[in-house]
Amino acid sequence: MADIGHEVVGIDIDQEKVDSLSAGNAPFFEPGLSTLLRRNVSSGRLSFSTDSSAIRGAQVHFIGVGTPQSSNGAADLTYVDKAVEQMLPHLGACESGAEIVAGKSTVPVGTASRLSQRIAATGATLVWNPEFLREGFAVKDTLEPDRLVYGLPDDPRDAQEAQDVLDAVYAPVMSSGTPRLCMDYATAELVKTAANAFLATKISFINAMARICDTVKADVTDLADAIGMDERIGHRFLRAGIGFGGGCLPKDIRAFQARADQLGEGETLAFLAEVDRINDWMRASVIDTAAELLGDDLPTSRIAILGATFKPDSDDMRNSPALEIATDLARRAGSVVVTDPQAAPILAVNDDLPYEVTTEAQDALADADLAILGTEWHEYTQLDPHRAARLMRHARVIDGRNALDPQAWKAAGFTYIGIGRR
Ligand code: UGA
Repeated sequence: MADIGHEVVGIDIDQEKVDSLSAGNAPFFEPGLSTLLRRNVSSGRLSFSTDSSAIRGAQVHFIGVGTPQSSNGAADLTYVDKAVEQMLPHLGACESGAEIVAGKSTVPVGTASRLSQRIAATGATLVWNPEFLREGFAVKDTLEPDRLVYGLPDDPRDAQEAQDVLDAVYAPVMSSGTPRLCMDYATAELVKTAANAFLATKISFINAMARICDTVKADVTDLADAIGMDERIGHRFLRAGIGFGGGCLPKDIRAFQARADQLGEGETLAFLAEVDRINDWMRASVIDTAAELLGDDLPTSRIAILGATFKPDSDDMRNSPALEIATDLARRAGSVVVTDPQAAPILAVNDDLPYEVTTEAQDALADADLAILGTEWHEYTQLDPHRAARLMRHARVIDGRNALDPQAWKAAGFTYIGIGRR
């Protein structure tokens, strides 16, 4: 927002984060973010504070706090509620036109309508404006959005005013072709949840196909290529592997089921439990495959896990399939070593991990009896299999992301096992 010309203040309750951001340091790794952050902090367009009164007088207030999973699977709305609570005394002070609160957090359907009255009482208008950015592409997805969704209030005048304010805010990132879709609160909330549920379903679908392929000795990558050519299906999000992780897809499908239960529609979304189950199963089946491959030697074997993050180009390890596999195998194998270019230094500060940690792939591969690709970082998919074979005690690889070239690895002497791959 600052980079496209707005004056922005970011509020957080965490003083350490605010200090680090104020010094131009992002608290997590995201390609391109540090450059943007530094440029705008030093220009003075972007500042950070723990003092919520710093929002006073602003025209647009974005809510971007987390909605983590609570113990029953539902979304925990504590942070959203607290953010609104802290905002309320400072709303209504904007002197330059309609004042907007724009919710970006992923929330259960019905949240915006619950919050809207209290916000309206201050003179501001609530819009639900879901966020679709992907980690690893956050900057690009924000500066070149594929669509904008505005969930607007029922009152047509309030809706029009809010729409105009947001259009002006987003104008610099909207090309002539960027769709901007206006709808009611509930639909906007559902767009976000439905999109993530669909993406998760697509992954579990192809992973189920991978298991069938394994059974009949077919190849899921050829299958995905061929079905993806049907434009109604498309190629993206059909990569079979150890499944989805991260801070969004797993928790969002559970929160959606929990909300459906509350609405008396539990049966309608029962298939999402199946999506979740297939996803867990993929992790478990790689663990079983590793155990089978190493057989009686498992308790003395050394296993290298390539990748700790839930996806490449991120340092996010929330619900990471690679780390779950590493943690489980560490209990059963002689030793496990995890390598990751971004996450290793974060993991390394913890001294009671059940596995070793290194940033260098070659150190992880040295003397290993099995390598498992857990995250398809470019540097792992580009590894020279001949070199890997020389480093390892036994040339065995499980390609948990179907991202290696089976022919090249087999030619280098590897026992290669993919997911649903011949
Ligand atoms: C996801 C959505 O893709 C974003 O659109 C959404 O805005 C975001 O959640 C959110 O709700 O905030 P993200 O969690 O960054 O984004 O990651 P994805 O790119 O969706 O990948 C999720 C997981 O699925 C990763 O673990 C990835 O390895 C896995 N995946 C993805 C597959 O196993 N196969 C695929 O074909 C694609």
